[in-house]
Amino acid sequence: MRIGLFDSGVGGLTVLKTLSKKYPNNHYIYYGDTLNNPYGNKTKDELLTLAKANIEFLLSKDVEMIIIACGTVSSNCLNELKKIYQIPIYSILEPTIDYLNEIACQHIGVIATEATINSHIFKDKVDKDVIEIATPKLVPLIESNNLNNISEVLKEYLVDYIDKIDVLVLGCTHYPIIKDEIKKIMGSTLILDMSELINIDEGNEKEIKIYFSKLNEIIISNTKRIIDFDSKTIIKSSNKD
Ligand code: DGL
Repeated sequence: MRIGLFDSGVGGLTVLKTLSKKYPNNHYIYYGDTLNNPYGNKTKDELLTLAKANIEFLLSKDVEMIIIACGTVSSNCLNELKKIYQIPIYSILEPTIDYLNEIACQHIGVIATEATINSHIFKDKVDKDVIEIATPKLVPLIESNNLNNISEVLKEYLVDYIDKIDVLVLGCTHYPIIKDEIKKIMGSTLILDMSELINIDEGNEKEIKIYFSKLNEIIISNTKRIIDFDSKTIIKSSNKD
């Protein structure tokens, strides 16, 4: 099965990592739109235009299904994209929303980009006490691998919510990259990485190809740090084949 995944940058690699561990025998084709990162401050129209270009790129690689490995595009554009394309399109958010509705915990916190928080998808679809927290400083720091002060930045965002929530949802796929730092601040609160809730079929063709719309040394070293890189994994710029 050829599975296409896309995100604004390296964040969706956390989804690729989880899926390729759980279902190693699939052919994964990942596209990170590093040229247009971050997505979190963009309008719905801008996100739709970018998402369509990302899907067109993945379709040119003959993918059979698409997983939107980006909370921002999923929360703002999923319905429109499903109407435009025949191919099955899955969002990273849906399994998380189902899970949150099923579990016993009542106090849910969500950290995510401004565009995801402004969509209020979690408040609208989860029938619990949901606190939505926009954390716009995180993605640029993660993409640039500028993590020296990440704990201070996280404390600013999270300090008011420690001991007030049972579950903290990492509503942006970049955030599992800094999960350890988040855990240190949130103590016993359950930290939820959305990628762990996705179920797909296993295939019989093991391959990973990763494309970025802009490629540089920082992006390559972030990629190697995030996924378990083996010698068969290929990283390319989307401009060349
Ligand atoms: N990783 C993305 C998300 O899940 C995009 C973040 C961004 O580019 O601002 O929302």
